[in-house]
Amino acid sequence: MSGAMSGATSGTTSAAVSGAGSAGSSPEVRITVRDLGKTFGTQTVLQGVNLDVHAGETLVIMGGSGCGKSTLLRLLIGSHKPTSGSIKLLGQDIAEIGDVAFDDIKRQFGILFQSAALFQSMSIADNVALPLREHTNLAPEVIEMMVKIKLELVGLRQHADKFPSQISGGMAKRAGLARAMAMDPKILFYDEPSAGLDPVTSAEIDQLIKELTRNFAVTSVVVTHEMDSAFTIADRMLMLDGGRVLKVGSREEFERLRAVSDADVSGLSEDNQIIRQFLRGAAQGPITRRRSADDYREDLLGEEGNEERVTRGAVPTRRI
Ligand SMILES: Nc1ncnc2c1ncn2[C@@H]1O[C@H](COP(=O)(O)OP(=O)(O)OP(=O)(O)O)[C@@H](O)[C@H]1O
Ligand SMILES: [Mg+2]
Repeated sequence: MSGAMSGATSGTTSAAVSGAGSAGSSPEVRITVRDLGKTFGTQTVLQGVNLDVHAGETLVIMGGSGCGKSTLLRLLIGSHKPTSGSIKLLGQDIAEIGDVAFDDIKRQFGILFQSAALFQSMSIADNVALPLREHTNLAPEVIEMMVKIKLELVGLRQHADKFPSQISGGMAKRAGLARAMAMDPKILFYDEPSAGLDPVTSAEIDQLIKELTRNFAVTSVVVTHEMDSAFTIADRMLMLDGGRVLKVGSREEFERLRAVSDADVSGLSEDNQIIRQFLRGAAQGPITRRRSADDYREDLLGEEGNEERVTRGAVPTRRI
């Protein structure tokens, strides 16, 4: 659990600060996670997660497949209940407030899932308009204008009348982003926003995320294992491994770790060696050694049926 806490102290909410990247004074804390744990049956998927995310910053959550990234995201948006610990969104403990208050918070965050999850029977414009129609009493003309603004932001105004089946995967992601932005959220959650996209489209999505974060002081929490994307958009990064936070730190700290030469690796802690291997997408390192040791033990002894299992992360595939 050590190293899991960010530098910022909890609960020091300064309403005055909402600008992007507001360094120096204490920026508004929009998400606070304390000692969070999640167990499915006998499988511990997350344990001892501590985290603060501030106004106007982008936090990238990384880690191998199955290490608990999506589960963490689902806990943050309230679609899973924690087994232990607490989550505060916009200063409110989401386990303690009632449904009405949580609905109010929900209106202040947007979600972009791996599949853009657009309604196939509705045009792109209607998909974006949906949250506004459902959650506000705005006049239809006002909603129409707001939809146009959001579609222009993501470069889709000309395609407003198309249906999801008539647009490409990258356009669907952008439409999903426009919908997530429809209510001018304070927090945006993304799960693998560039998965399945070609490198150029993926870079465009990255730029869009950066612009939205900068121009609207949105707090973005992005799950990705695309390293190029992670280093492009992150202000801070969080590395999960086997449901545990190995490190939360600035992008620069992670860049330094990635740059450590082979000759200097032995001077790093085991956790930092794991992170370095992950960031470099290297075939050799502690993740690979650990995985083959696990397989061997399982082969010899079978799975330890009665013991609580902790999920392990895998090495990401490197994008060329
Ligand atoms: N609803 C659930 N019920 C039971 N087990 C679950 C559930 N959701 C997730 N898990 C388990 O929790 C572990 C972590 O899953 P999660 O989806 O969070 O991984 P991830 O880090 O997002 O992986 P990926 O990079 O492949 O998307 C997996 O072993 C998964 O099987
Ligand atoms: Mg996932």
